[in-house]
Amino acid sequence: MDKFLIKGPCKVNGTVNISGSKNAALPILASTILFDKPVILENLPRVKDIDTMLSLLESLGSKIVLSKNKRTVKITKTKKKNFVASYSSVKTMRAGVLVLGPMIAKHHKSITSFPGGCVLNGNSGRPINYHLNTLKKLGMQYEIKKGYIFAKTKAKLKGNFIKFPKISVGATENLIMAACLAKGKTILKNCAIEPEIKDLTNFLRSAGAKIKWVGKRTCEIIGVNNLKETKYSIMGDRIETGTFCILAALTKGNLLIKNFKPKLIQTELSFLKKVGASVKTFKNEIQIKGPKQIKSINNISTKEYPGFPTDLQAQFMVLLCKANGISKITEKIFQSRFIHVMELQRLGAKINIKNNTATIEGNTEFKGAELMSSDLRASAALVLAAISAKGKSIVSRVYHCDRGYEKFEDKLKRIGVNIKRISS
Ligand code: UD1
Repeated sequence: MDKFLIKGPCKVNGTVNISGSKNAALPILASTILFDKPVILENLPRVKDIDTMLSLLESLGSKIVLSKNKRTVKITKTKKKNFVASYSSVKTMRAGVLVLGPMIAKHHKSITSFPGGCVLNGNSGRPINYHLNTLKKLGMQYEIKKGYIFAKTKAKLKGNFIKFPKISVGATENLIMAACLAKGKTILKNCAIEPEIKDLTNFLRSAGAKIKWVGKRTCEIIGVNNLKETKYSIMGDRIETGTFCILAALTKGNLLIKNFKPKLIQTELSFLKKVGASVKTFKNEIQIKGPKQIKSINNISTKEYPGFPTDLQAQFMVLLCKANGISKITEKIFQSRFIHVMELQRLGAKINIKNNTATIEGNTEFKGAELMSSDLRASAALVLAAISAKGKSIVSRVYHCDRGYEKFEDKLKRIGVNIKRISS
């Protein structure tokens, strides 16, 4: 298992090119199951989860041809038919469950393993009841046996009126994809509206899907018989962008962040301004300079988009450890997503957790330590903390980082971070 060796403190300076969005690419790739015609996708991020999804699609009968730089993929259908998304294909990736909606819509059957991915919610796990209950309303029948969902439908799925009991990114994506080939009209209420979901619907529309967003959280889909051949470029990664913005603020650095539309992260940027960072935005770029003194904030709550993203909570917590007073973060999406706190404490952080709120004492001087990553975004937070710590840190289990950050250490080296990958 690879590790990062980081010698800090480092101040970052320079330009960062943001990669394609992992969380947009995954559902878009899953939705190619709906197609008979070829699809070309550009701006793919080169991260482990994408490789996993491509292998899964291949195992289900798609032909995958990657360009030399692996950023463009052409996906065509072969005659091979397999309806089993096996445990080995989805054990590391939550997004594995996103093949269920498209498979049931296209092939009327699917055997899908319960997905893996980051453990973000302690013992409560990461259920998929919203996916299953709402797909059932389109006509899917299912049984759960030995960790697999055995799903089928007698005929085509049938459009329906569905209100999600709680906002869920994955369930919204699964339903939109399934409804594209269902008979008639589906109205989805209380949808997640993350930019990555809008990227999915823009992609599907480019192939002739009839999808309309109405009001804030309602999506109307009229099923079509087939989707057309299409070529689409995936949006930039929102969480990678936010992570580098936080890094600039944390190290009092100065970064020009390219290939991302700042209007998609207004909430994050407003919090960075509150801590004192100077932020200038352009159409596709952000210039961010860290403040001399980071200011504390006592009212951050993670929320569904357009609120503050849970996927940046750990990284922002690192920043607040350096603020000039006490800060508070309340986690409202994954109530116990605080595994990183114990690791940050090894560096000297003073953080107290009560229920789903973390109280963070400021003015902490981090001292280098040995740290272990527990999940994707927590691993990025540990890397950020180690960059701002005095002395040597080792961050182990960086395979978590590799699932979602493209060439993280190379991008960091280029902006002045003393970081080395130790392969074992
Ligand atoms: C997606 C993102 C993940 C992000 C999360 C929240 C991808 C691949 N992953 O995950 O990075 O942290 O959105 O922004 O895009 N829930 C249920 N039952 C369900 C589904 C969800 O109880 O069937 C709960 C979850 O446990 C969680 C909340 O609903 O508490 C939101 O989860 P959801 O939005 O579905 O997250 P994911 O799609 O898994």
